[in-house]
Amino acid sequence: MSEIIIEAVDLEYSYPDDTKALHKVSLQVEKGEKLAILGSNGAGKSTLFMQFNGIYHPNSGSIKYQGQDISYKSKALIELRKKVGIVFQDPDSQLFSASVWQDISFGPLNLGLSEEEVISRVKKALVDTETTNLQDKPTHLLSYGQKKRVSIAGVLAMEPEVIIFDEPTAGLDPRHSREFMQLLDKLSSEGKTIILSTHDVDLAYSWSDRIAIMYSGEIIAHGDPGELFLQPHLIERADLELPWLIEMHNEFVTKGWVPASTPLPKTKEDLLRNVPIKSDLQSA
Ligand SMILES: Nc1ncnc2c1ncn2[C@@H]1O[C@H](COP(=O)(O)OP(=O)(O)OP(=O)(O)O)[C@@H](O)[C@H]1O
Ligand SMILES: [Mg+2]
Repeated sequence: MSEIIIEAVDLEYSYPDDTKALHKVSLQVEKGEKLAILGSNGAGKSTLFMQFNGIYHPNSGSIKYQGQDISYKSKALIELRKKVGIVFQDPDSQLFSASVWQDISFGPLNLGLSEEEVISRVKKALVDTETTNLQDKPTHLLSYGQKKRVSIAGVLAMEPEVIIFDEPTAGLDPRHSREFMQLLDKLSSEGKTIILSTHDVDLAYSWSDRIAIMYSGEIIAHGDPGELFLQPHLIERADLELPWLIEMHNEFVTKGWVPASTPLPKTKEDLLRNVPIKSDLQSA
């Protein structure tokens, strides 16, 4: 049976200015899963993430880590944050040390690890995020995409069990975005639980095991990516678009080129495998 590693139970949260940001939010995340959270601007994704490692305290409801309500006492929060790491949406909220090396080593140093272990973790994180050549650079001089990668490196070096990425590919160029997704696959194969938010429906569809859709502070759907994207009313309500693979698939079904019963393609190769050979298309 699958094990729930982290869970939001009936969360309600309003900011001090009374903006209601979360309403009846319940979400179970399985150990080792790849979960994508989709939702338009202001839907509540970042606010939910801040609840997951105790940065914000819900007005009611709770966060459970491995079945236990999290404690908001400072010692317990330090322990929790070793297990649940967040890469913030805005890298400027994450980076504060003078140089890239110092920034990435800050967390591991605070864990009380040996100098050797800290150096080894920082080097690995630099390689994984392709930032080795930036290690001596002052963080405030980095480009936005470089800051984003360094902030990811800082969290990786902590080696948390659950890693939460808030819009990780926003601001990354196509190559770094692709390489980041490969890094996520590697982390996932090492058994990490990964939660990310994104506006990229293609990425969410092809990468995730499950998707949760947020709208106006609520989770309006949670489940298998293919099943969610086959519900047009849901996609419309959440102001989302269809992944291009599903749009093409639907088009092929409408034209009668593939039977409606054809499984949804997960990759470009699946999509092409489903369509008839050229001579069939010409006679269609
Ligand atoms: N510090 C704050 N004080 C008051 N209201 C806030 C604050 N931060 C966020 N909000 C409000 O809370 C709601 C949820 O915001 P949140 O940042 O969680 O959305 P999001 O889904 O992450 O959006 P985006 O896709 O733009 O990142 C919005 O209405 C937003 O205006
Ligand atoms: Mg956000």
